[in-house]
Amino acid sequence: MAHDVIGVVDFGGQYAHLIATKVRRLHVLAEILQPEAPLEKFAACKGIILSGSPALSANDEDSLYDKRLYELPVPILGFCFGHQEIAKYYGGKVEHTQREYGPAALHVRGSSPIFKGLQEVETVWMSHGDTVTVLPAGFEEVGVSLAPGGEPHPNAAIANDASKRYGLQFHPEVDDTVHGEEMLRNFVLDICRCRADWTMDRFLEEESQRLKERTGRRGVFLLASGGVDSTVCAVLLGKALGPERVHLLHIDNGLMRKGESRKVLAEFEKRGLARNLHFVDASESFLAALAGVVDPEAKRRIIGETFIGVFENEAARLDLSDSLLAQGTIYPDTIETGGTKRADVIKTHHNRVPLLQTMIEEGRVVEPLAELYKVEVRELGGALGLPEELVWRHPFPGPGLGIRLLCSDGSDPAPGKLARGNRVLASLLAGGPFRGAVLPVQSVGVKADLRSYEHPVLLWGEGTCEEAAEVAPRLYQKVPEVNRCLIDLTGLGFSEARSVAATVTKERLSLLREADAFVMDGLRRHGLYRTVWQCPTVFVPLELDGRGRDFVVIRPVLSERAMTARPAILPRALLAELCEVLLSLPGVSGVALDVTTKPPGTIEWE
Ligand code: XMP
Repeated sequence: MAHDVIGVVDFGGQYAHLIATKVRRLHVLAEILQPEAPLEKFAACKGIILSGSPALSANDEDSLYDKRLYELPVPILGFCFGHQEIAKYYGGKVEHTQREYGPAALHVRGSSPIFKGLQEVETVWMSHGDTVTVLPAGFEEVGVSLAPGGEPHPNAAIANDASKRYGLQFHPEVDDTVHGEEMLRNFVLDICRCRADWTMDRFLEEESQRLKERTGRRGVFLLASGGVDSTVCAVLLGKALGPERVHLLHIDNGLMRKGESRKVLAEFEKRGLARNLHFVDASESFLAALAGVVDPEAKRRIIGETFIGVFENEAARLDLSDSLLAQGTIYPDTIETGGTKRADVIKTHHNRVPLLQTMIEEGRVVEPLAELYKVEVRELGGALGLPEELVWRHPFPGPGLGIRLLCSDGSDPAPGKLARGNRVLASLLAGGPFRGAVLPVQSVGVKADLRSYEHPVLLWGEGTCEEAAEVAPRLYQKVPEVNRCLIDLTGLGFSEARSVAATVTKERLSLLREADAFVMDGLRRHGLYRTVWQCPTVFVPLELDGRGRDFVVIRPVLSERAMTARPAILPRALLAELCEVLLSLPGVSGVALDVTTKPPGTIEWE
């Protein structure tokens, strides 16, 4: 049966694929199209959505696609870069003026069908540096946005209802745009009049068929960490191919949580997945490979490649070299590793290191969940009969504690930048409830679809965590060398912070493992495990006022798909407990809560 199709033009934004997923949730088929696809492809669509991009529309970057697509009699909707491209094509102007990251209030104007059924003020999610400064002829301004503490932002939503052209500066596809799904529904079902006949059962059916065709008579050998993705993947493979053709390999990389491998093996046993289950304790090999390495991307590459080395040894030892490698890779792993033609590399996920990319190109890897997000994997897990407590486990990254143990050669990253940042920060905080400082360490973030590797600000004083989260967006706007905001849980601050030389060692790992266990236990005791989506505990090699060598950061977030995230503000009683116990660990110089949204920070620090 032929389905109506929405074409999603992928300009390389972090959320292009998410747009397609959100359209599929409306039971309408969405196809990702490259901007240079032949015009007939666009003409065959019932509607076209233009994604965001790491490129700058104001500078005419990435503008060499076929503009005749705008002349097609097909409704077009653009987000962020796509919005700016629409404005430019029809004679408007785009300039590099205002930056906005994270939440903003959209004040809806008029009664455009794109906002049918919505409130006068909507919470939307921003990540951009360019703005439509002149409205194109024939278009109406149907929304103005206001970020917390920021100036009004004109033309945040523009529409030409007669020609069915719509541009939104924000991202309706991310979960944090509260009624983004309604906006997409208005476009896909009402404006484009698509039939809603595409379902998840259909995905399962087609994926099982694809797996049978891909594997032929061969078996699969799955790297099974015991997390949600690899466990759902194990069950799916077993159902599609028969359990006898599926071997599982659990590797203890020495970077797992406290007691994790033991629990994972017991869990597989309990779920009847132990028939072809193999286990290797490779912690010494991982530690040796990481010795002396400080660069976060180098650490990620080493961890990913060590996984493959261990896998290949085991495959040879068990005479399974003919099997295909199976992985529970999900979509954010691919997109953040720059996995589409234009997307920027935010961080290299362990299942996307170059060695694996080569194996993928050689057709030696199957990844049945590669198109899905966490929330869909959980839905699939439920449909496959997995229990709630497994499906709702917190995500844990493949490189594990290895990327939560920041490393340093001890040099100050950029003294000039820090001094400038601190001057601007002091003027921004003057008269408010906080004092603050830019810390001499860096962490990974994502700003306007590009990787950022910048500094956190630490705030302390009278203000609350909620107030810290409120002032944070203004700090990102005004201090460009900052991509994260922390609040000091001791409330005391410091006079001098110094970066300390540190690498991944057994001692630091075991201390982080203890700290992580305290934090996870605290969330469970306070009944917050399910509300909080994920809560990394991070060690940052910093000495404060001559004390300690690791600064501990607690990073609780609310999310659904990990492409965006909001900070979860934990209750004061829990924060006080955690602060006390973490400060008592040897070598700990301080404890802070990370209140950064994604963007501009990522969930993990590396
Ligand atoms: P970030 O830090 O980019 O992470 O906001 C998004 C989600 O992905 C997890 N993550 C990983 N998962 N391999 C994985 O399987 C990796 O290399 C990896 N890096 C990050 C992270 O924990 C969060 O849930």
